[in-house]
Amino acid sequence: MLKDSFNRIANNLRISITDRCNFRCSYCMPEEGMVWMDKNELLTYEELHRLVRIFSELGVSKIRITGGEPLMRKDVHSLVSMLSGLDAIKDLAMTTNGYFLNDQAELLAKAGLNRINVSLDSLDAVKFKEITRRDYLHRVLEGLETIALQGIAPIKINAVIIRGVNDNEVSEFAILAREKPYIIRFIEFMPIGCDDGWNSGKVLPSQEIRERIEYELKMKLVPVEYHGTQPSDRFVFEDGKGEIGFISSVSEPFCEHCNRVRITSDGKLRTCLFSHKETDLKKLIRNNEKDDTIKAVIGEAVWNKEEGHLINQPEFKRPDRTMSQIGG
Ligand code: GTP
Ligand code: 5AD
Ligand code: SF4
Repeated sequence: MLKDSFNRIANNLRISITDRCNFRCSYCMPEEGMVWMDKNELLTYEELHRLVRIFSELGVSKIRITGGEPLMRKDVHSLVSMLSGLDAIKDLAMTTNGYFLNDQAELLAKAGLNRINVSLDSLDAVKFKEITRRDYLHRVLEGLETIALQGIAPIKINAVIIRGVNDNEVSEFAILAREKPYIIRFIEFMPIGCDDGWNSGKVLPSQEIRERIEYELKMKLVPVEYHGTQPSDRFVFEDGKGEIGFISSVSEPFCEHCNRVRITSDGKLRTCLFSHKETDLKKLIRNNEKDDTIKAVIGEAVWNKEEGHLINQPEFKRPDRTMSQIGG
């Protein structure tokens, strides 16, 4: 098992398979001028398969494929099918902006993808375009309908809420969670984008969102899992209909329960989203090192996992890479 010095077990691996994205969310990337990684730097699907197998032998049972936008990478369904063939992987999920789901959902479901989380920060077409710099709300909504038809469940929608940008929509999102089979998760804005203009005033604490929803919908929210092992605190409405979640990375960090590690698309192991150090696994793979050697390197890196992020402290320093380069 992969244990760290704070007694946490890492059983959840997030793999970023590309840094590219077809959206340009203003809190994540500049409109122009992104420099993408050279394709030779990306781990191949065979290399990823070997790494995931090695991690699974170290106790990892949950895999999330992220990006950039993971569906930008060619034939992702073939990677999904390779990973779903590993017996030890019990939960194979993806986080996507939803744009390509209409075309790819069926292939992904057949390949064995268990779950999909879709990022969607506005339900208003004009605001959606303002945030993502793309006029694609209709595509994302269609994609959501398509995955439901494929029987992929639960479907989670991630909405990063930024004060003054989309905080007026929290009740619209809550209503969607009552009308459709979606779990809506409100995410606090974190300082990890490129040119994101982050300041603490732009963070809408989960508690404030909760109070707004209860006031505007005139209905109480009842916790079903609060400060559990997942980052998301889960709530249902008092009449039992619809589920919403709150990911309170800034106001109530969940680092003491953290079970995750990440691999960047160029094969670097990061033990925290906000890490200042990385471990080069691609070098070991491309040098054809033995499984045991790679396992020892992973084990040591995880042992040294950071206690948590320091967003609320004066010594906080952003990591060198931004969210789209690390994997969200
Ligand atoms: P589930 O297994 O479905 O609960 O997935 P998840 O919530 O772990 O994954 P997802 O990619 O949907 O992440 C949702 C949000 O959680 C991201 O947008 C981040 O804002 C936040 N998040 C994910 N991982 C971390 C992490 O390791 N640390 C912190 N602080 N926030 C994270
Ligand atoms: N703060 C919080 N969440 C973020 N995401 C991207 N940037 C940030 C940020 N600065 C989210 C995306 C997506 C997930 C992968 O990460 O919206 O849902
Ligand atoms: Fe885990 Fe680091 Fe995220 Fe905290 S900030 S939950 S320690 S990855």
